[in-house]
Formats: sequence, C-alpha cells, structure tokens
Amino acid sequence: MGSHESRDERHNHNPFAEGNVLPATIPTEHIKGMIVNKQGPLCFSCHPDLEKGIPGGKSKHQPVLAGECTNCHSPHKAKLKGLLLATSPDLCLNCHKDLKTKMGKEKAHQPAARDCLRCHVPHVSPQAALMSQAIQPLCGECHDSKSATFGKAHISIDAAVMNCRNCHDPHASKNPKFFKNVIHPPFAGGRARTAISSASKDARHRV
Ligand code: HEC
Ligand code: HEC
Ligand code: HEC
Ligand code: HEC
Ligand code: HEC
Ligand code: HEC
Repeated sequence: MGSHESRDERHNHNPFAEGNVLPATIPTEHIKGMIVNKQGPLCFSCHPDLEKGIPGGKSKHQPVLAGECTNCHSPHKAKLKGLLLATSPDLCLNCHKDLKTKMGKEKAHQPAARDCLRCHVPHVSPQAALMSQAIQPLCGECHDSKSATFGKAHISIDAAVMNCRNCHDPHASKNPKFFKNVIHPPFAGGRARTAISSASKDARHRV
C-alpha cells in the first residue's frame, strides 16, 4: 500500500487526481447505464493483481466476478478508506438482507455486529466462504481453546479437529452460546458429550 502520503490524497483516486481523462471519470450513473460490462475490465486494467488472483481462489465473491466494482467502490473521490461507498457491516448487509434480518432478530455475535471484515475478505479467498483464514485459528484469535472453560465445554477435544461451524453460528443465534438454530438430535436433547464425540470422530474421518 501507500503511494499516497496524506489521508486526503489517499482518498483521491490516483488517475483522477492527476487529471487524466479516463472512461472511469464517467459518473457512476453513466457507468451503470452505459458500460456496465466494461467496468470490470476497466478496473482490472490497472488492478491486474486482483484479476490474477481470481482463478486460484477457493471462493470468489459474486459481485467481483460480475465486475460490479462500483457496488462497493466509488471510482471517484471517496471519504472512506479504500474508496468504499460505506463501511462494513452496512456495506455488506445492504445486499445480505437475510443475514441482516437474522442479526436484528437474534443475538448477534459481537464481531459480526461490528465488522464483517474481521473474518471475511471482500474479493477472493484461498478459504471457503471468503474466509480470511481457516476457521479454527480464526475463532482461536478471540476464544482460547486451551482454557479450562473451553476444555470443559468441549470435553477436552482438541479444537484443531472440530469444525466450530457444525455447532455454532458465527453471525447470530437464538441461543446465547451461538448454537445453530438447527442442531442434530442428540445435541438438541442436551447430550453435548455424544454430539461432540461424534462430531470429532467425523472430523477425524475427514482428515
Ligand atoms: C488508470 C488506472 C486505474 C484505473 C482504470 C482504476 N484504478 Fe483504482 N487505483 C489506481 C491507482 C494508481 C491506485 C493507487 C494505488 C495505491 O495507492 O497503491 C488505485 C487505487 C484504488 C483503490 C484503493 C484506494 C485506497 O484508498 O486504498 C481502489 C479501491 C480502487 N483503486 C478501485 C478501482 C475501481 C473500482 C476501478 C474501476 C471503476 C479502478 N480502481 C480503476 C489506478 C487505477
Ligand atoms: C462486495 C464489495 C466489494 C466489491 C464488489 C469490490 N470490492 Fe474492492 N474492496 C472492498 C473492500 C471492503 C475493500 C477494503 C478491504 C480492507 O480494507 O481490508 C476493498 C479493497 C480494494 C482495493 C484496495 C487493495 C486491496 O485489495 O485491499 C482495490 C484495488 C479494490 N478493492 C479493487 C476492486 C475492484 C477492481 C473490484 C471489481 C472487480 C472490486 N474491488 C470489487 C469491497 C469490494
Ligand atoms: C452488491 C451486493 C453485495 C454486497 C455489497 C456484498 N455481497 Fe456478499 N454476496 C453477494 C452475492 C450475490 C453472493 C452470492 C450469493 C449468496 O451467497 O448470497 C455473495 C456471497 C457472499 C459470501 C459467500 C461466498 C461463498 O463462496 O460462499 C460471503 C461470505 C459474503 N458474500 C460476504 C460479504 C461481505 C463480507 C460483504 C461486505 C464486505 C459483502 N458480502 C457484500 C452480494 C453482495
Ligand atoms: C467471527 C467471524 C465472522 C464474522 C465477523 C462474519 N462472518 Fe460470515 N461467516 C463466518 C464463517 C465461519 C462462515 C462459514 C464458513 C464455512 O461454512 O466454511 C461464514 C459464512 C458467511 C456467508 C455464507 C453463507 C453462510 O452463512 O454460510 C455469508 C454470506 C457471510 N458469512 C456474510 C457475513 C457478513 C455480511 C458479515 C458481517 C455482518 C459476516 N459474515 C461476519 C464467519 C464470520
Ligand atoms: C474478534 C473476536 C472474535 C472472534 C474472531 C470470534 N469471536 Fe466468538 N465471541 C466474541 C465476543 C466478544 C463474544 C461475546 C462474549 C461475551 O458476551 O461474554 C463472543 C461469544 C462467542 C460465543 C458464546 C460464548 C459465551 O461464553 O457465551 C461462542 C460460542 C462464540 N463466540 C463462538 C465463536 C466461533 C465459533 C468463532 C469462529 C467462527 C468465533 N466465536 C470468533 C469475539 C470473537
Ligand atoms: C459438536 C458441537 C461443538 C463444536 C464442533 C464446537 N463447539 Fe463450542 N460449544 C459446544 C458446547 C456443547 C458448548 C457448551 C455450551 C454450554 O455450556 O451451554 C460450547 C461452548 C463454546 C464456547 C463458550 C465456552 C465457555 O467458556 O462457556 C465457545 C467460545 C465455543 N464453544 C467456541 C467453539 C469453537 C471456537 C469451536 C471450534 C474450534 C467450537 N466451539 C466447536 C459445542 C460445540
């Protein structure tokens, strides 16, 4: 990062700051109406690293694949870092309405209520679901899997062999321990030990 020195300059998109006349200087409304399919290639022409990263990604954000850069970025000056139209989570929840509804109705997991980019990347990822890293180390950044309470809750099963997502919802839940709203029967019956054992066996089989 950082060919820009000051905060003000940073938010002045370089090519425009230099006064070049580029197709990208067409107001957003016009881009939407006139050259919508050219927007991706236009942006990629100066941001080739982003395009090059797409084929190798395990998950790819649909609006990025569709070249809809201006759904999230202003091609001109923007007040926000990264020329963004809004900050996360609002930026994301504009499109992810089901999740917005769920997080509004249920107890929201604190990091999800604050910033989707704490766990996700916006364009393309080597992980599933645009995750910024594998799930165990990600959750482990805030929840110490070596702690006594964690061990007790998970009957001392090694966090590395559990898929947290099998039992917990990372965004919101009706349950204060963020259990998924649909849980499989032995677990729903309160026999956590059985559920955890079988989940961890599953995990070992998968490895
Ligand atoms: C003529 C070349 C050119 C075109 C076309 C172009 N960009 Fe850029 N863009 C740049 C340069 C140069 C920078 C500054 C790079 C830096 O700061 O490292 C930049 C920076 C950015 C940044 C980062 C800004 C920040 O504050 O970190 C974003 C986001 C961005 N461009 C999005 C776009 C989008 C979306 C399009 C298409 C609508 C686009 N660019 C088209 C040259 C271009
Ligand atoms: C779903 C929203 C979204 C879409 C669509 C999107 N971006 Fe971004 N982009 C972001 C966010 C959010 C960031 C800031 C990431 C951060 O701060 O970690 C970003 C950052 C960037 C940056 C700064 C460098 C970097 O990679 O972090 C560039 C350049 C960029 N985007 C270009 C593009 C281009 C070109 C497209 C279209 C092909 C595009 N973006 C589509 C959300 C989006
Ligand atoms: C312009 C609309 C739009 C915006 C803005 C947007 N998304 Fe998406 N997102 C989509 C669409 C469309 C899909 C694919 C269908 C679906 O899963 O809903 C998707 C899928 C995803 C997926 C699942 C990807 C996968 O491979 O399973 C994640 C994670 C995601 N978005 C996170 C985010 C985050 C984080 C932001 C904010 C930085 C964001 N989205 C902003 C439209 C958007
Ligand atoms: C604490 C980490 C975390 C935060 C913060 C977070 N997510 Fe996720 N998200 C995940 C995980 C984990 C998955 C599932 C990945 C998997 O199944 O492999 C996921 C999956 C998704 C999906 C794919 C559909 C699904 O539910 O599986 C979407 C869309 C999504 N997240 C959007 C968002 C948006 C929008 C925000 C911000 C409001 C957000 N996420 C915040 C961890 C997080
Ligand atoms: C950025 C830090 C952060 C990350 C990353 C994170 N969490 Fe959390 N989590 C929190 C906070 C803060 C709380 C609220 C704690 C409280 O209310 O006492 C919480 C609460 C929880 C709870 C309820 C715990 C309790 O004691 O009531 C569970 C379960 C949970 N998170 C699971 C996860 C999972 C699974 C992941 C990975 C997908 C994850 N968390 C990632 C910060 C994080
Ligand atoms: C098979 C189901 C299952 C899996 C997989 C699972 N958990 Fe849990 N988790 C539970 C149960 C059961 C509890 C205890 C709930 C209670 O005390 O009511 C719990 C509790 C928690 C708590 C709260 C601990 C406390 O101190 O009260 C956190 C945080 C948590 N889990 C995070 C994770 C993370 C991170 C992962 C992945 C490494 C994970 N869980 C995997 C079932 C699971």
